[in-house]
Amino acid sequence: MRISDPRIVAKLEEMHVDLRPGTALAELTSLGIGGTTDLLRIKKHESLPDLLSLLDANHVPHKFLGGGSNLLVGDGELPWVVLQLVRPEPDVVLDGNLAHVDGAADLGRMITFCAKNDLGGMEGLIGVPGTVGGALRMNAGAYGMQIGSYVREVKLYRAASRKIEVLQGDQISFEYRHTSFAPDDMMLSVILELPSKPFKVILEGIRICNEKRRSSQPLGQKSAGCIFKNPPGASAGRMIDDLGLKGLSVGDARVSDRHANFFVNAGHASAKDMLTLIADVRERIQKTYGVSLENEVVVWNA
Ligand code: EPU
Repeated sequence: MRISDPRIVAKLEEMHVDLRPGTALAELTSLGIGGTTDLLRIKKHESLPDLLSLLDANHVPHKFLGGGSNLLVGDGELPWVVLQLVRPEPDVVLDGNLAHVDGAADLGRMITFCAKNDLGGMEGLIGVPGTVGGALRMNAGAYGMQIGSYVREVKLYRAASRKIEVLQGDQISFEYRHTSFAPDDMMLSVILELPSKPFKVILEGIRICNEKRRSSQPLGQKSAGCIFKNPPGASAGRMIDDLGLKGLSVGDARVSDRHANFFVNAGHASAKDMLTLIADVRERIQKTYGVSLENEVVVWNA
């Protein structure tokens, strides 16, 4: 979708929004898949309510992009524009055990920065690509921990009220890869309360998690992490592996040989290839186990 009306373009400039016409989302997603649309980069959180009113008034549909690491975007010209926060400097400010983190901060860099200041707890998430805002919206987790456990306060743009609001941790529910945020809420910043730990101890935890991840996941390849959520008490990766589906391909979309719940883009896979592969694997799992696997990856298909 293209914004061409000069009055809208001028207003975007007034709102400190950087318009990047015709951006290929394949370049902004870890899967390397996705068509083209206008990207609006937001430099000031405060401009969001006016920006959303402007887009609504002009019937311009939109979606919010975080780090693009858990996302499968459709092919071709996309029927909505994409909004993304510009990362401020600094993006993490510490105050005792509290870390004030911008939604656009890189998750791994935030964990490392806190570790260097003797604040731990998030070691399991090292190696998970993406932004802190994206991790928060999904309640990202690994190796027995989840980001939601450390949330004290969240500042967000609430689609329902069309306002910027602040929620306390106990007003939000964090479940397995799911939160009580609405799909079109936008995470702006978070205050995390992290336990004190010596840097050396955190570093050892980080080293162990890195090793586990390197040995079981296809880290060097284009993927969106796990495609399906684990059904209660089971592992989707093991179920797919047990059916002998590693290596199953549609075009360049392929079930990873290393971890069967990672589907990789081994070349120039299209969204159509990847969606066909997802549907095929889901059907085979349903037939054999009678279980309907739920997507873990977020799909933006037109
Ligand atoms: N397994 C297989 N074959 C495979 C993959 C896994 O037999 O191809 C077996 C493993 O040997 C292990 C069991 O299945 O015995 C579980 O595997 P793993 O420890 O890799 O955990 P997982 O349940 O597949 C979850 C998360 C990952 C997270 C890891 C580590 C989900 C959907 N996945 O994977 O998160 O990194 O645990 O905590 O919850 C993600 O969110 O994108 C993601 C990758």
